[in-house]
Amino acid sequence: MLVLGIETSCDETAAALVVDGRTILSNVIATQLDLLKKYGGVVPEIAARRHTELIGYVIKEALDAAFRTLDDVEAVAVTSRQGLIGCLMVGVAAAKSISYARHLPLIGLHHIEGHIFANLLSHPDLPFPHVCLTVSGGHNMLLYVRESCRYELLGTTLDDAAGESFDKIAKFLGLDFPGGPVIDKLSKQGDNKAFSFPRPMIRSKTLDFSFSGLKTSVINMFKDKIARNESLPLADIAASFQEAVVDVLVAKTMRAAEEHEVSAVSVTGGVSANSRLRQVFQETCRKKGIDVFFPELSLCTDNAAMIAAAGYARIMLGEISDLRLNVFPSAPLGG
Ligand code: KG4
Ligand code: ZN
Repeated sequence: MLVLGIETSCDETAAALVVDGRTILSNVIATQLDLLKKYGGVVPEIAARRHTELIGYVIKEALDAAFRTLDDVEAVAVTSRQGLIGCLMVGVAAAKSISYARHLPLIGLHHIEGHIFANLLSHPDLPFPHVCLTVSGGHNMLLYVRESCRYELLGTTLDDAAGESFDKIAKFLGLDFPGGPVIDKLSKQGDNKAFSFPRPMIRSKTLDFSFSGLKTSVINMFKDKIARNESLPLADIAASFQEAVVDVLVAKTMRAAEEHEVSAVSVTGGVSANSRLRQVFQETCRKKGIDVFFPELSLCTDNAAMIAAAGYARIMLGEISDLRLNVFPSAPLGG
């Protein structure tokens, strides 16, 4: 089944064609990086307007790049929940129009389910059950994935998501947006033990996260150094901050894996591209005899191939939306 995936939940206008939830024929992403750099982050109204301008071209490009036409498409999958409401509406309106005009099944998806499927696209052999850490700019969750499309929420962030904290710290340090890739790169030149930042909730009984205290601690230390006229070793600060985030994410995920006695861990979402996070997960999992899976880098951040793959899985379960499909800024993952 050839599924057209559409993703517009935040700042990427994306469309993709995926066969049987497995084979990516095209995966087109138009980023709004120019706007992000200009405004230092996503401005919801401006992002939605940019989606409106781009969506038609992006869908056409996804078809052209796959040497297919709308006649070949057999279903339309679209992100309809969790995201910026005006942005979601653009993708959903486009998906509904195609579904209506072409009499195609329509399926609305949760954005985070898309991220979970990014890893299943990269690793069709990823076993169930497993524990999944989804870690992005807008979300930070630990899930027990019993089987395809069946999730139990184990923990979530009580304040900032990890990616959000990367972005906020980078902005504070005067670095580029988005902050994650910049801090990742800068950290390679720094000493991750130079500063001992807190590891919030690392020993708490729950599997929830909290990153706003860590952010405050970095900012206070930075301001203190400025007040004392001391040098500001940006690479050391970046590396020490990143190490604190990585320590918490790995520790909590390993605890979830042990408590649920799974032999596999899946790490997804924008922050799963982080090189230090990958390294520490790989080392820790090797010692514990647990397999760890990451999406290929092009599927870590927002894309529509992951939405097409998730849509195919839901359609196979007989779950199809209709033209009343609505959008929701936040919603439980479901299933
Ligand atoms: O999944 P995504 O594209 O969008 C959301 O659903 O939020 O994730 C974007 C987030 C941003 O916060 C960005 O800074 C972070 O992922 N990110 C990274 C890296 N690449 C992207 N964070 C740490 N290290 C990276 N290499
Ligand atoms: Zn995302």
